[in-house]
Amino acid sequence: MQASYTITTLNEFIIQRQADFPYAKGELSRLLHHVGVAAKIVNKKINKAGLVDILGRAGDINVQGEDVQKLDLFANQHFIDALRGSSECCAIASEEDQEITLFEDGLSRDGKYVFCMDPLDGSSNIDVNVSVGTIFSIYRRLSDRGAPADLSDFMQPGLAQVAAGYIIYGSSTMLVYSTGKGVNGFTLDPSIGEFCLSHPNMQTPPQGAIYSINEGNYAHFPQGVKQYMKYCQVVDAATNRPYSSRYIGSLVSDVHRNLIKGGIFMYPPTQKAPSGKLRLLYECNPIAFIAEQAGGLASDGSSRILERQPQSLHERVPFYVGSHDMVQTLLQHLADYP
Ligand code: AHG
Ligand code: MN
Ligand code: MN
Ligand code: MN
Repeated sequence: MQASYTITTLNEFIIQRQADFPYAKGELSRLLHHVGVAAKIVNKKINKAGLVDILGRAGDINVQGEDVQKLDLFANQHFIDALRGSSECCAIASEEDQEITLFEDGLSRDGKYVFCMDPLDGSSNIDVNVSVGTIFSIYRRLSDRGAPADLSDFMQPGLAQVAAGYIIYGSSTMLVYSTGKGVNGFTLDPSIGEFCLSHPNMQTPPQGAIYSINEGNYAHFPQGVKQYMKYCQVVDAATNRPYSSRYIGSLVSDVHRNLIKGGIFMYPPTQKAPSGKLRLLYECNPIAFIAEQAGGLASDGSSRILERQPQSLHERVPFYVGSHDMVQTLLQHLADYP
């Protein structure tokens, strides 16, 4: 007889865990539900990329100085529309928009939360059919409800996140998120159009055997990073070295693999990006939140990512994230080789 398993959909899970938030009256739950809806819409488009006019450049340069891909804009618009529809979020900071998007219509203007997002992470991989993602981060607004939100709502340290997560559009589509009570992963079952709980209470191994870094930037890495890379490459069976080098070029994909298998992801300062390439608000903080909730660590090389006080919407920081012991060993190398 085939073993039966109970399906827990994302919505059922959110309702079940509502008890974690006695103070909340379902607003965060509604917001997370709408994130799931937008993820399904973007996923449908990505699955047909190549058949519909969604590949390639949109023809503009974004605030990051990057060639905007059509899918960047598609994902950006659909997440904005879905979040507007939730009426629980009053403003959005997006990688693709220089300024924050304010919802000033009706209920949304009084929304309790603000939302930061990287609507499409790994844009360089879209046209070559390599997995990409969406990253999001949710805070309680600080400004008075009824008044428009403002930049101060977004200048909160990552520790203040009420929820954060990512969607990975890969061999399967997964939504992984945390509200500060552990990390849970949901896999989209296209036959029923639901995200189903597939990875309950995700914990990342304290030690792994994978290191992820764009080695092409080696010449300009800090000395401590160079020394750590040498450490990863030493032949020592007792410590399972040399580690494997794995780098996809989509932060969500590299982080998701390392979260499950154990590993460390590093984006140090480079010549092209002297403060690091990755953005604090909508890449590093949400990924750091997930990593720590799963038992890992996330640092900028000298301080905990989640404790950094943001100074601007698109601020870039060096980023070292993953298995607890591996990040610790890297930090020791940075300290030993200043
Ligand atoms: P995005 O596509 O949202 O701009 O992010 C790309 C980021 C991140 O996904 C990845 O880890 C990193 O860029 C890769 O950078 P390099 O190509 O410089 O290695
Ligand atoms: Mn990104
Ligand atoms: Mn992006
Ligand atoms: Mn980009």
